Amino acid sequence: MASTVSVKYLGHSCFIISTPKAKLLIDPFLTGNPKAAAKAEDIQCDFILVSHAHSDHYGDAVAIAKRTEATLIAVYELALHAGAQGVKVEALGCGGGKDFSFGRVQLTIAHHTSSVEGPSGLLMLGSPVGFLIQLEGKTIYFAGDTALTMDMQLLGERKQIDLAMLPIGDHFTMGPEDAGEAVRLLRPKLAVPMHYNTFEAIQVDPGVFVREAGKHGYEVEVMQPGASITL
Ligand code: NI
Ligand code: MN
Repeated sequence: MASTVSVKYLGHSCFIISTPKAKLLIDPFLTGNPKAAAKAEDIQCDFILVSHAHSDHYGDAVAIAKRTEATLIAVYELALHAGAQGVKVEALGCGGGKDFSFGRVQLTIAHHTSSVEGPSGLLMLGSPVGFLIQLEGKTIYFAGDTALTMDMQLLGERKQIDLAMLPIGDHFTMGPEDAGEAVRLLRPKLAVPMHYNTFEAIQVDPGVFVREAGKHGYEVEVMQPGASITL
């Protein structure tokens, strides 16, 4: 059967997943991203999944959602923050999921923070999350910004993950060695690194991640911004 799911990397932690039923944009940080493979104003999508409120994830989400009328899917507090700006939202809780026309999205645990600059200091916008996305018979895990966590083992034991997107940039998230261990816990058919080499603090060699995952027998594809894979 011909593949019906394509996943395009737009740089940093931004991906767009396309199926015959919908286009899902994840963590759109395009404006101000030196590695962005698209302009925010050129994106067409039906849903926008935002893992947490940091500007390198929430970035262009509100502007794209307003222009495209896409539904923004996020944890409760972040969804309300977007909704207050006139965006259609679906507010979920960590561990909770929902069936959509294209498939299912479940929020997963991420160990990180989630804040945005408010008029009088930082606003905390709920828990950061990852996403478990099931569509067209495929299972995709987008970890968000997170530390290595044993919760990943639970995901790997209960789902056959076709594609795992994992942060490897160190400093703000797990680094390439911990991400290699994450792959061992998640047991995905394919893993893709993200959240590295966008700026100085997160410069790492993705080859370390390839090597560490390879030690456990898992395949990694290092996608350049603008590249696509099909599942
Ligand atoms: Ni972050
Ligand atoms: Mn980040």
